[in-house]
Amino acid sequence: MRETKQAFTLSPELLPRHLGIIMDGNGRWATKRGLPRSAGHTAGAAVFKKIARYCSSIGIRYLTVYAFSTENWSRPPEEVGALMILFKQYLQESLRDFRDDDIKVNFIGDTSRFPANLQKLIAETADVCRNRKGMVLNIAMNYGGRTELIRAVKKIAEKVAAGVLRPEEITEQTLSDSLYTAGQPDVDLIMRPSGEKRLSNFLLWQSAYAEFISMDVLWPDFTPENLNRALTEFAHRSRRFGGV
Ligand code: IPE
Ligand code: IPE
Ligand code: MG
Repeated sequence: MRETKQAFTLSPELLPRHLGIIMDGNGRWATKRGLPRSAGHTAGAAVFKKIARYCSSIGIRYLTVYAFSTENWSRPPEEVGALMILFKQYLQESLRDFRDDDIKVNFIGDTSRFPANLQKLIAETADVCRNRKGMVLNIAMNYGGRTELIRAVKKIAEKVAAGVLRPEEITEQTLSDSLYTAGQPDVDLIMRPSGEKRLSNFLLWQSAYAEFISMDVLWPDFTPENLNRALTEFAHRSRRFGGV
């Protein structure tokens, strides 16, 4: 890890301020080895912890990881159950491990659908991290971009109905401020391991001008070197935001 850090010399202004990672390929990784899919999730969770700390060490300010989508409930109950157990274990460990890095864990998504003990842990984790000043780590759990937008629209509609906001006053900022990521910069780069080339309902509003990098590595095999390669590619992209 230290060697990687020394070898990586990208200056802070070339880094994405906000990086999004779709942590994909756990199931295929396990299947390739003749293991149950849950073994892939266990391996992927260890990589999550390592990569989050690496991102913090190189100066990423906001990291959003996609851990569980609103659509992932459709998986077999054994797989969903194994994921719930893993989330609990990793949140407990992260509470301890992320403290040294001053990482501010924040949850995005509708966490009310999770088992009560997991919800409690989520609330405790967010609470413990409240005053931290380091990298913001958004963990997207039961997150879906469309659900997030519906929630935002409802919040805005309620303000209109209450007479505190006029429809003509609604701007892009109003919408941004009503999302789970309120107050955070839009995502600059979305990275997806496993070779898939789609967003799968991740950060739909926030990704309007994000760069996208798909990588042919399964998440449990993902290393800081893979991340360095993606960040170097990002640094060479020409972002025009509709200008010339
Ligand atoms: C991502 O890996 C983890 C979650 C969605 C929870 P997958 O489980 O989607 O792995 P593949 O895509 O089937 O290989
Ligand atoms: C997206 O991956 C969700 C997470 C990584 C948590 P999926 O594996 O669920 O997405 P699809 O089914 O390939 O689009
Ligand atoms: Mg997948």
